[in-house]
Amino acid sequence: MKGIVLAGGTGSRLFPAARSISKHLFPVYDKPMFYYPISVLMTAGIREILLITNPESLPLIRQVLGTGSSLGIEIRYATQPEPKGIAEALIIGRDHIRGSRSALVLGDNIFHGEGFGGLLDRAATSTSGCTLFGSRVSDPRQYAVAGFGDMGRFESLEEKPAAPRSDCAVTGLYFYDQDVVDIAESIVPSARGELEITDVNRVYLERGRAELVTMGSEITWLDLGTEESLLEGSRYVSTTARGTGVRVACLEEIALHMGFIGADECYRLGEEMPNSRYGAYVMEAARRAAGVWQGAGV
Ligand code: G1P
Repeated sequence: MKGIVLAGGTGSRLFPAARSISKHLFPVYDKPMFYYPISVLMTAGIREILLITNPESLPLIRQVLGTGSSLGIEIRYATQPEPKGIAEALIIGRDHIRGSRSALVLGDNIFHGEGFGGLLDRAATSTSGCTLFGSRVSDPRQYAVAGFGDMGRFESLEEKPAAPRSDCAVTGLYFYDQDVVDIAESIVPSARGELEITDVNRVYLERGRAELVTMGSEITWLDLGTEESLLEGSRYVSTTARGTGVRVACLEEIALHMGFIGADECYRLGEEMPNSRYGAYVMEAARRAAGVWQGAGV
């Protein structure tokens, strides 16, 4: 299974903060925003990731994780010169995903909570057609919205409807089978000139091949598109770290737990950040793992 992170766009809703630096590099508490969607793909067991960003941001974003080899993953990079819609990521990334199942995640979405790993695992192993993830929101008009028929059957999808049929927003995480490239190539731009991901998903729905996983309140979903949500994201990550001792989306720890790297490698990654508390946390995670596996500390 292959992964795509779409971290494109101009970030104009966050101007002037995002005028000369991609919002995907903004810190969300202790790490850049794009770590969060990468953590989702890694937790789903995906090791081959294409990160799509705008041409100006690419060199800066690449500086952070490079090829991904230190995390035991492979990150490639591609550009989306203009924000022409989320579904364009599937066309830009077609060579990367063709012939495989894939997961696409938006660069500004955070997912975290009890049981989320299990949902990812299931989507990664059993998606046929597409798997979408829904979350209840207070203002569904800002998102794609799912509509339900008799017995709660998932039967419609609308992008930013003026009169939403439910309060279930479709989040920015999508799992697809091998047909997705052909479907993305077949859709036409919307009135706002974009290739809408909702149009791709609607094709699957019309074929009876779309599954919607409704996430409960135990799973937090945040779309970091505005200054308020950015602050909310940082607060959530900080509160979780202080309350549970777990740093959300710590890629080194995830790589370790997924078996992509060993405890020694993880420890070294922490050592490279000797002055940061994040670095100390990474070293501690490695020590704990080594204690469990070898019966002794590092
Ligand atoms: C995009 C999608 C929308 C989805 C949302 C999730 O909207 O178009 O379907 O619900 O992401 O974050 P945007 O945030 O780009 O307006």
